[in-house]
Amino acid sequence: MWIEACREGELAPGGVKYVRDGEVEVAVCNVDGSFYAVSRRCGHMNAPLEQGPLDGPYLTCPLHHVQFDVRTGEALSNPIDHDYGDQRPPEPYRRFGKVQMRLEWKVRVHDLATYAVRVRDGVVEVEM
Ligand code: FES
Repeated sequence: MWIEACREGELAPGGVKYVRDGEVEVAVCNVDGSFYAVSRRCGHMNAPLEQGPLDGPYLTCPLHHVQFDVRTGEALSNPIDHDYGDQRPPEPYRRFGKVQMRLEWKVRVHDLATYAVRVRDGVVEVEM
């Protein structure tokens, strides 16, 4: 079933829009005028991907920065831990951070599901 996501002019190049139909959540992406749709939930730990930047076809998760190619849904990288720069985090957080990092690296990053997109009469539609 095709669902209306937006009007073609509403989503500028580099824009990402969250669209939902029942339990299915999709991120519609404008890559230089071509539209793609992928699962909205990150393949690592389910962060909402429309909150992350889209640079060309590469969508970066806002939580641990895994990058996905929205044309294929492929995960292109692993999670990246937070950067504290020259500062060391407080001791309780350091201990928590070590445990968190060990767990994060055991969580597999899955590729994203992709969805067909078409533009009809200026309306972007996604096949859910
Ligand atoms: S939730 Fe997206 S990279 Fe961890």
